[in-house]
Amino acid sequence: MNTPLIVPAIALDQATKRYGIAKAGIATILESITTQVQRREFVSIIGPSGCGKSTLLKIVAGLSPITSGSIAIHGMTPQKARELISFIFQDATLLPWRTVRQNVVLGLELDGMARETRNAKVDTVLSLVGLSHVADSFPRQLSGGMKMRVSIARALATRPQILLLDEPFAALDEMTRDRINEELLRLREEQNWTALFVTHSVAEAVFLSTRILILAPNPGRIAHDLPIELPFPRTESTRRSSAFDRTVSEVSRALRSVSINSESKGDGQEIGVYPA
Ligand SMILES: Nc1ncnc2c1ncn2[C@@H]1O[C@H](COP(=O)(O)OP(=O)(O)OP(=O)(O)O)[C@@H](O)[C@H]1O
Ligand SMILES: [Mg+2]
Repeated sequence: MNTPLIVPAIALDQATKRYGIAKAGIATILESITTQVQRREFVSIIGPSGCGKSTLLKIVAGLSPITSGSIAIHGMTPQKARELISFIFQDATLLPWRTVRQNVVLGLELDGMARETRNAKVDTVLSLVGLSHVADSFPRQLSGGMKMRVSIARALATRPQILLLDEPFAALDEMTRDRINEELLRLREEQNWTALFVTHSVAEAVFLSTRILILAPNPGRIAHDLPIELPFPRTESTRRSSAFDRTVSEVSRALRSVSINSESKGDGQEIGVYPA
């Protein structure tokens, strides 16, 4: 038997996602997605709007079943692997009536962990994201960047094996986004998670990733699988290097070819549009 010693974090084999839509027949959202994400990889997914990026994350999170093919998360079904996964969405989705600390502790409360253990974990993770000083503040007292850090802290508090991030930093200004990107990579050095990251920013994807998947639309499929060879640790000087510029240009070119093709294709545009 040729069983690998370490199973991949995420393994998709010919995974296909279809929706049956009343009167409109069947819409194929994702077609034959085959890829493996190894543990501790940081994989970004980019592609034109509507190509199925969020759907792919939902499939991995066990929030949406595939129609055919197979998917394994650490060798398990997505349902069984749910507790290994944390999801970070575009808006920080904090509870306004809870303090920073109370927001971060939420996931641990749901796990039924003892209060003291919980508080110690929250303190650790708040200091990791540099928010110890606002632990007792409410979300309304924080900037957008700080709210996003709380959201990251909440996701990391449960010690996930896999972090799914769906355009988490899209609403932040460029400087804040750059800084949070650097923090995310620093956290990755200290912890052992694998990341699947959706963004529309090529520069952000290049900065963060060990690999970028470019999805083509209608139906969503992997058009390019590009390893990003820039050395770690990545810092501000990475962004200023000519290797970084070159990589961003290459990825942009690949993305453009996919987008242009999708425009000229003309079919499948109705996918996912519900009849009135
Ligand atoms: N429940 C559903 N039923 C039918 N179609 C759906 C459903 N959910 C999503 N879709 C369709 O699947 C396609 C992919 O949607 P998805 O949200 O994954 O795209 P995306 O790549 O994340 O786009 P964006 O960049 O705009 O966030 C879209 O055409 C959408 O309309
Ligand atoms: Mg999306």
